[in-house]
Amino acid sequence: MRHDRKETFGTIAVLLHWTIALLFLGQFALGLSMTKVKGMALQFELIQWHKSFGFLILGLAVLRLGWHLGAGRPRPSPALSPVERASAAIVQALLLAATVAVPLAGWALASTSTLGIPTLAFKLVLIPHLPLVPSEQAEAFWRQMHGFLAWATILLAAAHAGAALRHHLLLRDDVLARMLPILSPRRLAGRQTTTESDDA
Ligand code: HEM
Ligand code: HEM
Repeated sequence: MRHDRKETFGTIAVLLHWTIALLFLGQFALGLSMTKVKGMALQFELIQWHKSFGFLILGLAVLRLGWHLGAGRPRPSPALSPVERASAAIVQALLLAATVAVPLAGWALASTSTLGIPTLAFKLVLIPHLPLVPSEQAEAFWRQMHGFLAWATILLAAAHAGAALRHHLLLRDDVLARMLPILSPRRLAGRQTTTESDDA
């Protein structure tokens, strides 16, 4: 198994990044649409799926935090200016935290709901509620917090993805290829950014 290298992201960081990113985008779209569908039964079913995928994202995001603490991060791409390095570090730290905070706020919302509906993740695992007192005020607070955090994360992720695409398409450097190795042969040909000796 390839570990995180000094100059680029390793297999596990790459797999976690794209799995969480895709799940997060799908989860956001589901969150916005699920309460607008007609029919209580379908709405109930979609909210159960939303909660299930939310817990999956939470698990993967915690795993990613642990992975970063253990494996460390590669050096910033030399293509980034000092200002870009600082802003990328801040945005990525916020995104790391947000992928944990958004599902936690959703969990708090489900736990404070006066309806008291249990969460059976993927119809298999019963997830207990957080030890919070259910009330209409608490539920409204966590609904707002959950929605606000989800929107803030999406806007941040859009800026983050836009910056990565700008580097790839306009500046034609290795910033996106470090996180999307399928681009590496074209982008990194001839460069010495990912030698096997970095694996040590
Ligand atoms: C990364 C994971 C998650 C994302 C991106 C996400 C996103 C969203 C979004 C965008 C909404 C619509 C908010 C609005 O209409 O203003 C929503 C609603 C909701 N989410 Fe999540 N969510 C996530 C995880 C969870 C989890 C783990 C739970 C519960 C265990 C949960 C429970 C809910 C519920 C119950 C609603 C409906 C709120 C209502 O009644 O209007 N979510 N979510
Ligand atoms: C879909 C478009 C996306 C693109 C093109 C993209 C691209 C990238 C790139 C190129 C990096 C490495 C930057 C560097 O070398 O410093 C990165 C890192 C990162 N991205 Fe994204 N990203 C996308 C979506 C997302 C989403 C939706 C999230 C979270 C909700 C996210 C969270 C992160 C985080 C936390 C890092 C730091 C490394 C890690 O922990 O995985 N990204 N991204």
